[in-house]
Amino acid sequence: MSRYIIHTFGCQMNKHDSERMAGLLQTHGYMPAVSDADADVIIFNTCAVRETADDRLYGQVASLKALKTGGRPEVIIAVGGCVGQRDGERMLQHLPHVDVVFGTHNIHELPSLIDAAAYGRSVARVLEGTETFASDLPTVREHAWHAWVPINVGCDNHCAYCIVPTVRGPERSRVFEDVVTEVAALVAEGVIEVTLLGQNVNSYGRDRYGQPRFAELLHAVAATGIPRIRFATSHPKDLSDDTIRALAELPALMPYLHLPVQHGSNAVLAAMNRRYTRETYLDRIERLRAAVPDITLSTDIIVGFPGETDADFEQTLDLYDRVAFDHAFTFIYSSREGTPAAALTTTVPREISQQRFDRLAARVRDLSFESNRRVVGRTQECLVEGASRKDRHVLSARTPHNRLVHVPVPEGRTAGAYAGTLQMIRVTGAHPWFLTGELDNDAV
Ligand code: 5AD
Ligand code: SF4
Repeated sequence: MSRYIIHTFGCQMNKHDSERMAGLLQTHGYMPAVSDADADVIIFNTCAVRETADDRLYGQVASLKALKTGGRPEVIIAVGGCVGQRDGERMLQHLPHVDVVFGTHNIHELPSLIDAAAYGRSVARVLEGTETFASDLPTVREHAWHAWVPINVGCDNHCAYCIVPTVRGPERSRVFEDVVTEVAALVAEGVIEVTLLGQNVNSYGRDRYGQPRFAELLHAVAATGIPRIRFATSHPKDLSDDTIRALAELPALMPYLHLPVQHGSNAVLAAMNRRYTRETYLDRIERLRAAVPDITLSTDIIVGFPGETDADFEQTLDLYDRVAFDHAFTFIYSSREGTPAAALTTTVPREISQQRFDRLAARVRDLSFESNRRVVGRTQECLVEGASRKDRHVLSARTPHNRLVHVPVPEGRTAGAYAGTLQMIRVTGAHPWFLTGELDNDAV
C-alpha cells in the first residue's frame, strides 16, 4: 500500500486543507508515512505570504532531488497550496524532479493527479476559482477534539502588500446550513472546539444575497451545543457591533480575538489600503472591551512597509501601548510580485526595518509577560492539547483566553489520558510566552 507524508506551511487554512488532503488520500487507499524516507508520495502544502517561507520551500523541494537520483526515482513529489497556485507550470521548469503541481482550488483532484504522475508524466494543474470547498472532502483531523471549519475562502480586500487575493481568489462564503450541519455532526463525534476559518470571517455572507451574516452564524453554531468556538481572521473594518455582542452573549465563544491592525500610522494604513484609521481601530477596541472587559487581543503588525518613516513607526509603538495587546505576530515587510505594493520604490533599508522590528518585538514580549502576570492565581477551565513538545511529563493546555499553560502530569498518569479533555487549572506562574499551572480538581 502506498504511503504519503504532507509538509504543511503557513496559515490555519493550510492546516485545514492538509487534513482534507490526508482524508482524501486515505479514502483512496493510502496510509500515512512516518518520514520522507518511507513515503511514496511527498506533498508540500505551501505558503506564499512572505519571501522567506517561499525561498525555504524551493530549497527544501530542491534538496529532495537527491532522494530521486539516489535510488528512489519512483517517489512522487507534489507541491500544492498558495505557491503551487501562483507558480503552476513554472515550478516544473525550475524544479523538473517535481511530479505534481496543484493549487488551492483543486485539492479534490490530488489523487487523480498523483495517478497521472505515476505513469511518468509530470502534471501542473491549477484552477481559477473555487468550485468545491475543501470542507466537503473527507478528512483526517490532527486532533479528535478540535476541527477547523472554513466558512469563507478567498479575499476581496486587496491590501497593498498581500498575495492572498491572487492565490486564494475572490471571497466565497459557504452555505449557512452546510456550516451549521458540519458543526452539529462534529458535536455528535465528541469534538470540543471548532475554529471557524476564513481570510476575513467578519464579511461572511456578503457574497450571498439574503444569506445570514457572521453574527447570526455564530449564534447558530453555538446553538449546536459545541462547547468552544474560536474564529480567525477578522478584518477590523468589518467587525460589527452584532459580532461584538455575540462575543459578550455566547458562553461558547472564547474571550479572545485576533484583530490584525498591521500598522499604527494613518498614512501607512491608507497606503496599505486597509480602509480604517487608528482612531476607528481604537474605537472598535473600546467597544469590544466595554462588551467583554477581560477579552484578550492579539494582532498582526508589519514593519518597514514602503514609505514608513520613523514617525510612522513610533505611531505603531504608540498604538501597541494604547491597546495593550496581549500578543502579536510581527513581520518585516516582504515585497510580493504581483501585489500593488511591489511597484512602490520608497523601500525601507533592511537594517532600519530590522531595528524597528527588534524594538517592536521587545515591546510585544514585555506586554505579553505583563498580560500573563495578571492572571497568576486564576483558576479556569482549560482545554488540554496533550504532552508539551519538550517534555512528556508536562501537559500543554489553552486557557479560554488562548494563553498557553504548562501543567505537570499527575503522578502515575500519562499525558495521553488528558489530551482533548477540559480541566480546571490554577495558574501558578507567568513567563513571557506561557504560563505554568496545576490541575485544580477541587475547583470542579
Ligand atoms: N510582508 C510581510 N508581512 C505580510 N503579511 C501579509 N503579507 C505580507 C507581506 N507581503 C502578514 C500580515 C498578515 C499576516 C498573515 O502576514 O500581517 O496579517
Ligand atoms: Fe491579505 Fe488583506 Fe485579505 Fe488579509 S484582508 S488576506 S491581509 S488582502
